[in-house]
Amino acid sequence: MSQKIPVGILGATGVVGQRFIQMLENHPWFEVAWLAASDRSAGQSYGEAARWRLKTPVPEMVRRMKVSNATPEGAPQVIFAALDASFARELEPQFAAAGCAVVSNSSALRMQTDVPLVIPEVNAGHVALIERQHWRKQSGGFVVTNPNCSAIGLVLALAPLHRSFGIESIFVTTMQAVSGAGYPGVASLDILGNVIPYIAKEEEKMEEETRKLLGSLVGDRVRPADFSMTAHCNRVPVEDGHTESVSVKLKRKASAEEMIAAFNEFRSTPQELQLPSAPEHPVVYDPAPDRPQPRFDVDRGNGMSASVGRLRPCGVLDYKFTVLSHNTIRGAAGAALLNAELLKVQGLLPGAPDSRHSYAERAGVLP
Ligand SMILES: NC(=O)c1ccc[n+]([C@@H]2O[C@H](COP(=O)([O-])OP(=O)(O)OC[C@H]3O[C@@H](n4cnc5c(N)ncnc54)[C@H](OP(=O)(O)O)[C@@H]3O)[C@@H](O)[C@H]2O)c1
Repeated sequence: MSQKIPVGILGATGVVGQRFIQMLENHPWFEVAWLAASDRSAGQSYGEAARWRLKTPVPEMVRRMKVSNATPEGAPQVIFAALDASFARELEPQFAAAGCAVVSNSSALRMQTDVPLVIPEVNAGHVALIERQHWRKQSGGFVVTNPNCSAIGLVLALAPLHRSFGIESIFVTTMQAVSGAGYPGVASLDILGNVIPYIAKEEEKMEEETRKLLGSLVGDRVRPADFSMTAHCNRVPVEDGHTESVSVKLKRKASAEEMIAAFNEFRSTPQELQLPSAPEHPVVYDPAPDRPQPRFDVDRGNGMSASVGRLRPCGVLDYKFTVLSHNTIRGAAGAALLNAELLKVQGLLPGAPDSRHSYAERAGVLP
């Protein structure tokens, strides 16, 4: 019998759900045991229901699996959720109430004060917030979220600067790939040869999530980071990879060499714990004058590294640079997978030893 932890995927047929299936195919700790999507797909085999968009084939076992209704009955206790926020808001609490660990991609619960919003390299300690959740107290279930796909690349690049020099203000403009809008997403006639300077609620999400992620856990609350920030978000005709032009003002003066060293030397909890999906280098500085570019750099670190380049002085703030990250890997399925690996090592996944013990009881096991 397999020793792996059985996991389910909510929204398994979508763009992010497909990435989960791809990334879980040979995962050392988890195996896909249950798939769910809307009523349109439920009852069909996954091969029939999903319009597979990835370059690797659908794993044979998954292709033949039946897609279930999105209800907790019969679901395993570890759920990766890739639902549209409107459905997630209703469904994720049902799974948590049924005792599941819900590792979510959706924005529905991210900003709730008792829900951890986590990038394991940046704020692994925020996982402790799950102990405030009523589901955890009642059934052992909980919800942990990962950020919006454009916030995650930005925050990976900012974290080493914030840690070493402090950040006073941020100005960011994004150029976001079409896969970020799901499938079928943006109509081809709207995006081909075009730029759309609007992505609903994206600028607000980037600004509030960046502050929560780089904020500090004080007692049982996250105190948001106190920098000022503005984001401009654009959709561009790129398949995968969100590119961002960033200007920053630092609290403490830093040279370009010190900043590049901070990017390249950044390592954190996932690297120390050698989590299976952790990239060796969460942030990679590319010295070429015309990089990073989505076509060439999006898969760096198996899609889990953020690429930074073009660091130079900024005439308005202190410095400006470019960041690129893979929106459906580091920005979605890979982010959730890394969160689940962190939870597993912390003994917090249902079925794993000691999973009902509180985080505080095991404080000291992990940073
Ligand atoms: N794409 C990205 O780069 C990205 C990055 C970060 C976060 N996210 C977030 O991840 C979530 C999923 O995004 P996506 O791009 O994968 O979207 P998507 O391609 O539109 O997929 C949506 C999935 O949800 C299912 N679904 C729709 N209505 C449902 C219902 N009433 N009950 C149960 N399942 C239902 C769909 O099933 P059917 O096939 O049966 O309709 C499909 O599996 C969203 O919250 C999104 O904001 C996406």
